[in-house]
Amino acid sequence: MRSGLARLASLLALGLLPAASAVLYTDPSQVPSTKRYDYVVIGSGAGGATVARRLAEDPRFNVLLMEAGIDDAGRLDVQVPYLDVFTAGTAIDWNITTLPQPGLKGRTIAYTRGKVLGGTTNLSTQCSFLDYMCYNRGPRDDWEKYARVTGDPGWSWNALQGVMRRIERLTTPADNSSLVGRVDPSIHGLTGPLSITVRGFEYDIDHRIVQTTQQLPEFPFNLDHNSGDMLGIGYTQSTIYRGARDSSTTSYIRPFLNRPNFDVVINAQATKLLQTATEFNLPAFRGVQFARSASSPRYTVYATREVIVSAGAIHSPQLLLLSGIGPPNELRAVNITPIVNAPYVGKNLQDHPLLSNTFEVDPRGALTGDDIARNQTLQNIFLNQWIQSRSGPFTVGSPNLLGFFRMPNGTGIFQNVSDPTSGPRSPHYEFLTFTGFVSFVEPPPQTGHYLTILTALMAPIGRGSVRLPNNNPFAKPIVDLGILAAREDVQVMRESVKAVRRFVKATPWQGYVLREHGAFANATTDAQIEDYVRSNTATVFHASSSLAMGAVNSITGVLNPDLTVRGTRGLRVVDLSAAPTVPEAHPLGAVYIMAERAADLIKSVAH
Ligand SMILES: *[C@@H]1O[C@H](CO)[C@@H](O)[C@H](O)[C@H]1NC(C)=O
Ligand SMILES: *[C@@H]1O[C@H](CO)[C@@H](O)[C@H](O)[C@H]1NC(C)=O
Ligand SMILES: *[C@@H]1O[C@H](CO)[C@@H](O)[C@H](O)[C@H]1NC(C)=O
Ligand SMILES: *[C@@H]1O[C@H](CO)[C@@H](O)[C@H](O)[C@H]1NC(C)=O
Ligand SMILES: *[C@@H]1O[C@H](CO)[C@@H](O)[C@H](O)[C@H]1NC(C)=O
Ligand SMILES: *[C@@H]1O[C@H](CO)[C@@H](O)[C@H](O)[C@H]1NC(C)=O
Repeated sequence: MRSGLARLASLLALGLLPAASAVLYTDPSQVPSTKRYDYVVIGSGAGGATVARRLAEDPRFNVLLMEAGIDDAGRLDVQVPYLDVFTAGTAIDWNITTLPQPGLKGRTIAYTRGKVLGGTTNLSTQCSFLDYMCYNRGPRDDWEKYARVTGDPGWSWNALQGVMRRIERLTTPADNSSLVGRVDPSIHGLTGPLSITVRGFEYDIDHRIVQTTQQLPEFPFNLDHNSGDMLGIGYTQSTIYRGARDSSTTSYIRPFLNRPNFDVVINAQATKLLQTATEFNLPAFRGVQFARSASSPRYTVYATREVIVSAGAIHSPQLLLLSGIGPPNELRAVNITPIVNAPYVGKNLQDHPLLSNTFEVDPRGALTGDDIARNQTLQNIFLNQWIQSRSGPFTVGSPNLLGFFRMPNGTGIFQNVSDPTSGPRSPHYEFLTFTGFVSFVEPPPQTGHYLTILTALMAPIGRGSVRLPNNNPFAKPIVDLGILAAREDVQVMRESVKAVRRFVKATPWQGYVLREHGAFANATTDAQIEDYVRSNTATVFHASSSLAMGAVNSITGVLNPDLTVRGTRGLRVVDLSAAPTVPEAHPLGAVYIMAERAADLIKSVAH
């Protein structure tokens, strides 16, 4: 996508920014073998960073945060929002490739996951403009559903209000423009660790999008997607502070380093959870084996209270399986002795399918993403502007506005299965409107100007899985996303394409949008649109729900409502694996929210 930007790679390698000084253990051998840790947290993304920091705020607890990847300090590619695309496929990406997806006509997906301090809060996705900076709390309906499914009212929207506010620090955008009319400040936290703000640079399409909301009732304006009601088009709230990415590192970890009770080790991959005892007839897993690489020595650390796994929806199930927690037959097949019969470990994997719909446009001289992607001089100007003043287009890494919608009534799609959305005010699909050409299957054209409206399926029915190829912890897990595995998923995507066509019929796009581009233009009948969907869809990289929490006696739940692993003692999972269904939103916010509550739950049983 930003292929022209590849020329900047040498500049990035220079590491222009000074690294903040921080005391980290940079090798497993440095973790003191005599220190008594109360908690060991595995993974430093939004889940692990938050829970580790909150636990370490209590000086009585010694906390060790373990990260498989390298330090993120001083990396321009993670700090400059516009450059985030460079993170995919690099040393800080786990480089997973999915199984061929039948729903995508057998295509595979390069599945970006952060192997770096800050985890996937520091990563972007291969071949797309998308990053993980969009901050949505999710719709109220999601949290009500999680409360219902788990039988724990503590997961409900109202119960989580305090948690939601204490995460956030609403800040001024990079261009110092006013938040008025773009956010409802009254519902936000102002003093939390994580900076939330709106766009720091305005594109010409922004006002056209807002004007469309005034004209077409199907696409209404929403002042603040974080009010619990996400429907409609609103300004994207991003985890950005003064034009730079605010990751779990910059928000939760780095300001909290250099305390005697908070240790962080990088280059340390957890290879196995070790059973340390049997309590109340259940195996306790308070030992963690870890190593720098397949060929380096293994080390072991023990937690006196709990081990918390926050390695994300791909690597958390991988670690449980490697430790003998999973479906017994699957474990035996890879020579792992089953310890806990947990048939749903690695099942129920979900993600948001994402489709690019591209128009050829006449921007009438206004700057588009195509102009930047093709022009090295312009890139250098904007990078320099960012370095000098943290302003300009490089402060933006995602669309400035997002839209979330329900399908119009009467499509007849949910005759044979019930509507999978969480409730009547949660979305079926999302619009992400980009200036410039975005495609997952077609290289960017060398000429012309484009508008891309990506559509994402918010409540998929298709389910995938995470499995082990063998018992080697350094082997990549087998990932099947189950993308578009259900007929209804394709049908909802088809309806999203029709909605895109209705959207650009509004007068703000007249004379601007010239024609549909490529295969999009050819897809007219329902059958043609469904075929186009299968040929052009990828994913938003929102892997979720592979260790879903459930009610205490549910069949499919892997975790209890308090995120402890069923059938074990001393072990919890705190990341997006735990969500019963993928949030109908960008899920980053939901991870911070779950992790803040997890810290409360853990502290409530610590004495
Ligand atoms: C991912 O692939 C890139 C390019 O081949 C490589 O440089 C990097 O080390 C890989 N990352 C990991 C974690 O193996
Ligand atoms: C925004 O305001 C801050 C603080 O006053 C200032 O340092 C910065 O240069 C301003 N940025 C722009 C783009 O005007
Ligand atoms: C690239 O951008 C520079 C700076 O705006 C401009 O002077 C130049 O004409 C552009 N080059 C092309 C090929 O458009
Ligand atoms: C669709 O049907 C539901 C339930 O009958 C109703 O509440 C809603 O207003 C309808 N939506 C539209 C756009 O007609
Ligand atoms: C529902 O099932 C019936 C019977 O199998 C089938 O004829 C119909 O097409 C299905 N409806 C949809 C929307 O898939
Ligand atoms: C669209 O259809 C035309 C006519 O059948 C065909 O020539 C063209 O290759 C198609 N374009 C794409 C991108 O599929």
